[in-house]
Amino acid sequence: MSRINQLSEHVANAIAAGEVVERPVSVVKELIENALDAGATSISVEIEDGGIKLIRIIDNGCGMDQEDAVKAFSCHATSKINQLEDLESIFTMGFRGEALASISAVSKVDLSTCMPEQNVGTQVKIEGGKHILTSEVAGVRGTSITVRDLFFNQPARYKFLKKDHTEAQYITILCERFVMIRPDVSFKLINNGKQILMSPGNGSPIDALYCVYGAEVVEQTISVDYTQSSVDVRGFAGKPAIARKGRGEQTVFVNDRLIRSKTISAAIEQAYRPYLMKGRFAFVVLFVNIPSALVDVNVHPQKSEVRFWNDSEVFRAVFHGIQNALKQSDMTSEPSRFSGEPMNTKHKDVSKVGHYLVSEENNISDSKGEKFPAEDSMLASSENNHSMHSAAGKSMPHELLEQNFFQNRNGHEMPLAFNASDFIKVSPTVLPFDNTNRQVEMSVDQPMEPSSESGEPDKDKRIALIELMEARFVGVLFATYILLESDSAFLIIDQHAAHEKILYERLSDRNRSKDYLKAQYLLTPQMLRLTRAEVMLVQAHQERLRELAFDIDLIGDFEVTVRAIPSFARESDIGLLVHEVLQSLDFKNDYLEQDVYHHLATAACKAAVKANDRLDVAEVQGLIKDLVGIANPYHCPHGRPIIVRYEKSDIEKWFKRIV
Ligand SMILES: Nc1ncnc2c1ncn2[C@@H]1O[C@H](COP(=O)(O)OP(=O)(O)OP(=O)(O)O)[C@@H](O)[C@H]1O
Ligand SMILES: [Mg+2]
Repeated sequence: MSRINQLSEHVANAIAAGEVVERPVSVVKELIENALDAGATSISVEIEDGGIKLIRIIDNGCGMDQEDAVKAFSCHATSKINQLEDLESIFTMGFRGEALASISAVSKVDLSTCMPEQNVGTQVKIEGGKHILTSEVAGVRGTSITVRDLFFNQPARYKFLKKDHTEAQYITILCERFVMIRPDVSFKLINNGKQILMSPGNGSPIDALYCVYGAEVVEQTISVDYTQSSVDVRGFAGKPAIARKGRGEQTVFVNDRLIRSKTISAAIEQAYRPYLMKGRFAFVVLFVNIPSALVDVNVHPQKSEVRFWNDSEVFRAVFHGIQNALKQSDMTSEPSRFSGEPMNTKHKDVSKVGHYLVSEENNISDSKGEKFPAEDSMLASSENNHSMHSAAGKSMPHELLEQNFFQNRNGHEMPLAFNASDFIKVSPTVLPFDNTNRQVEMSVDQPMEPSSESGEPDKDKRIALIELMEARFVGVLFATYILLESDSAFLIIDQHAAHEKILYERLSDRNRSKDYLKAQYLLTPQMLRLTRAEVMLVQAHQERLRELAFDIDLIGDFEVTVRAIPSFARESDIGLLVHEVLQSLDFKNDYLEQDVYHHLATAACKAAVKANDRLDVAEVQGLIKDLVGIANPYHCPHGRPIIVRYEKSDIEKWFKRIV
């Protein structure tokens, strides 16, 4: 039974009229929207020559019967609305009944469609608006629509298309945005025969974010989840470290529609004002949901703008949503943002960001949303920023908002977060480093093993150790990081990681461990209250505990007396140590020898100097001496780095002493 109706002249005239097909990306957008409206859970987009030669969209949606498949190409033919009032409760992307008519008027379209549980489908061919064929085809559930030779009958329009790769880039970015907006749908994009995007479609917004932007952006974003009045704001707010030069990475969806909105852009800008310098724009993916009666979607021919009945309510919800998220986050950048390299290269950088990026003015005086001096001027102020031209002055397609990052964008790489003229670049090397002072490409997660078989550091690393031994003590930062200077570098040592590693190496060396595993008897035995399970472990492992230099007696159902602990441990850590060691034991009595070392390492970790323990100069000297004496002083037993090194020359560059 036919679902598509011809809109009355009255309704048709009231629909925002204008150009629907501007370039290949507009065709892709319309066809994806149709597939989504058809309830597809899997959408494949295939393009050739930037979509100019071919665009093929295949979906597994509801399909059409033969009558509708033909009707679908008429002007103002839609199954989505009947009367104008339907727009007030619209849940579909389409409503004008214009897209297929417009597309088929300027290209050669071949549509095959089949409804579920039908054996026979329909094929319809239209070229330049002329109906060529309607026939039956074998039924495959869903719709496949192929659009060839866009603007073949409109040479003037054809001339305005950009190079194939630019058009393909627009389409890629559009598809990425659909991945974000509909994590429950699996999208595939094939460009000139090569698959370049495939989303899992598992419904997880984080997985969608990961699929589009990669792990590093996921790490650098904060979740936004906020409701104010009738406005619901969800999504991801980027930390300042991944701010951009343009608004290209501000993606806003209103009721699942990709739109641009001055109100929302202004609210984002205000919320980030304390964190970003002028000219920097936050990375934001925002889903704003608002009752459909409070938003007018019928204001733009390409449906890329909406009008809110209450702008300030939307402004406040977005502003507070982002502001709350930012306040709750520590704004600490993960190592990697200031390298000035594309974001998905291996990182080498560490930096605190927020404090460097405070702009001079923050005129938001009231966090409760009562008064926003900037709100009054938001439309005017955002006007300038909403130019449809890129920084390079090039005109951008309407649908993609202000994507002036296109020029920089290369595949999935993001544009650079900052450039050298704006911020210092911080490029530490996680030791070990080589003697030419080149940076070593090394992930901090990558455990560093001694490079020679004997376990001795190689020549370069010995040089690094000599530098460490000869370095001068500068101070201790945050009661956690030991600061040292050598003639050519600034070194930072994580005192906890260092101590942990020293203990670990000593304890796991069978011969030396004897010294450290001597029991130290306590002047006053300590009572500990354990859980039932722990008491059972103490009973089961008396002997093993003695080997580990503990002397523990049961004195009640849940109590023990601790008489001795390993000599490396401190009395103040007894409770912690015992719980730790018991946790690493289990009820099986068949120990492997190396388990002992594992338990010791765990215990060592707990016993090690904590971050925030203030060390005096003598203790620092002792720690460094011990550190230099072990085979691998670079990573703690968990693989975290112990020493980070900044080149003196790099520091001089930050301050423009040298270039
Ligand atoms: N992939 C599809 N699967 C099922 N039905 C489709 C598909 N594409 C289009 N249709 C049907 O064809 C009709 C016309 O599509 P068209 O895109 O021209 O208009 P619309 O989606 O209703 O409105 P708009 O012009 O705003 O997109 C739709 O209303 C829908 O019923
Ligand atoms: Mg449509």
